[in-house]
Amino acid sequence: MDIQIYQIGFGTPEYDEAVGLRYEVLRKPLGLDYSPEQLASEYDQVHLAAYGNSGALLAYLNLTPAGTETVKMRQVAVATALQGKGIGTLLVAESERLAQRLQFEGMTLHARETAVPFYERLGYVREGERFEEVGIPHFKMKKALV
Ligand SMILES: CC(C)(COP(=O)(O)OP(=O)(O)OC[C@H]1O[C@@H](n2cnc3c(N)ncnc32)[C@H](O)[C@@H]1OP(=O)(O)O)[C@@H](O)C(=O)NCCC(=O)NCCS
Repeated sequence: MDIQIYQIGFGTPEYDEAVGLRYEVLRKPLGLDYSPEQLASEYDQVHLAAYGNSGALLAYLNLTPAGTETVKMRQVAVATALQGKGIGTLLVAESERLAQRLQFEGMTLHARETAVPFYERLGYVREGERFEEVGIPHFKMKKALV
């Protein structure tokens, strides 16, 4: 599958479509939704989306500076029917290249416990104790961008 990864703008139709994907993959299974305040706080974040040949949205993640040296990766979601095909790996790799171009030295994230093996394959390491977020167990993970 040919995959194109683009930075999309907050508040655009592409962003709205990505929020729909995020809802289906990350929130609906937990019986949760995004509040207007949560989405409004994303106005200054970097939004990356992966598209297939036909222009279909495949996956999404966003990046937020966490201090001057580190970026936080959030909301990593691959369309349910397309998981396990390497799309998440491509999107995370592209986000790391972008963060490096922006001179950041490290990536951090809160991984759902179920996704920890996915991030470990990509070189992320767990940091600290398991904690709860959106009602499910998570670990903080990090990776040096060198
Ligand atoms: C987790 C997620 C982003 C991974 O993206 P993906 O496109 O499905 O993953 P990839 O196909 O690139 O996987 C790369 C490797 O990680 C493994 N992997 C992916 N998800 C995994 C999981 N939940 N548990 C264990 N291994 C996993 C794959 O088997 C693959 O290994 P392989 O190369 O030996 O086959 C995606 O499955 C997803 O959106 N899941 C639901 C939402 C979620 O949990 N998001 C992360 C929130 S922190």
